[in-house]
Amino acid sequence: MALYGTVILPGDKSISHRAIMLACLTEGPSVLHNVNRGADVKQTVAVLKRCGMDIQWQDDTVTVQGAGRRPFLQPHLPLDCGNSGTTVRLAMGLVAGYPLQVTFTGDDSLSQRPMSRIIVPLRQMGARISTRNQGYLPVMLTGGELWGIQYDLPIPSAQVKSAIILAALNAQTETSVTSPLPSRDHTERMLKHLGAPITMEGNTITVKPLKKSLKHADYTIPGDISGGAFLIAAALLVPDSEVLLQGVSLNPTRTAFLEVVKAMGAQVKVTKISEVAGEPVGDILSQSSQLHGITIPSDQIPNLQDELPLIALLATQAEGETAVSGAEELKVKESDRIEAIVTNLQRWGADIQAKPDGFVVRGFTPLTGGRVHTHHDHRIAMMMSVGGLVAREPERLDDKDCMAVSFPGFLTILDKLQHD
Ligand code: S3P
Repeated sequence: MALYGTVILPGDKSISHRAIMLACLTEGPSVLHNVNRGADVKQTVAVLKRCGMDIQWQDDTVTVQGAGRRPFLQPHLPLDCGNSGTTVRLAMGLVAGYPLQVTFTGDDSLSQRPMSRIIVPLRQMGARISTRNQGYLPVMLTGGELWGIQYDLPIPSAQVKSAIILAALNAQTETSVTSPLPSRDHTERMLKHLGAPITMEGNTITVKPLKKSLKHADYTIPGDISGGAFLIAAALLVPDSEVLLQGVSLNPTRTAFLEVVKAMGAQVKVTKISEVAGEPVGDILSQSSQLHGITIPSDQIPNLQDELPLIALLATQAEGETAVSGAEELKVKESDRIEAIVTNLQRWGADIQAKPDGFVVRGFTPLTGGRVHTHHDHRIAMMMSVGGLVAREPERLDDKDCMAVSFPGFLTILDKLQHD
């Protein structure tokens, strides 16, 4: 059944987390529209409320009563970050410069994801941090006076970079962070937009201590391109489809998926229309396409990692070989995504082999459909649901609810787009 229609996507998850966190550091109310209503962003709100912030949700509008330079109060309970890596990692940086004693916890998946990458630089800045479980949650953090550092990130992670930048706002001296490759830069763009003393030059970001509250701003969060990528992939794969996504974030650190699918032969047209809080925004039109395999350059990987499950699926329906390497970070996402991608697609008859840092796919292969082991990972569940559209049998997911981590209503939208 062809897919046809126009979609206004839920707000970008990464931008939503940051917009809510930074609104705490302004004076007075900030009203944010089209906030991502996924479980991850709700977890960020719950964590900030536990730290005394006044935050109200109404549909997809969030009002944050900013409290300027002294926003957070001592929480009396641990800060449960659920499944959300962005919540825990950014919140550790956000609170590190305040005299608070905080315990961070998370669900089973988050408790198996590495936190040392945040703990090491924050300790260097002066935060006192201990773990009961050698670099994993729960993490106990005692914040207070911080000092600037010059830090070379060992991995190009936006979460680590952002944690250091957020901590640096409260340090006594200047901080600089250098990334081996570019990664999503929403924190930098938003801070600049809100008047923070931050500069970006190449892959180095310099942050001076924040002397006054951030500028207040009300805005509409642009649509989530990582969520939209599932609908783009569906339109490319299902014959006679045409799907228009409106108001999507076109931040160049998030559009590698579009570049890669275009290189695979996809018909995708992008129109930039406006700018919101320093973020380019526009529309994306995708049409059914004949795809061919490619070798993905490893310098694209940091800006493509959330979309790599979809690249694997598309590659099964493309002629020739697609190779992904330099993607070892996939192993420490919400699940071990190399294993989850490869085992699920192999079960459906795809020719895909795991590598220590990626995978190789040979297409075209028909997909059988049927059973899916999601590992409770939202991106695996959505990728296999798109796969189900071109498989012989429909998909049978062991967990549909996990999609609500980033994209509540995904299946309803996919359903509405389908026409005879
Ligand atoms: C995110 C950064 C990425 C991404 C995650 C969200 C963010 O992770 O995979 O879904 O909002 O900063 P890393 O920065 O750890 O690579």
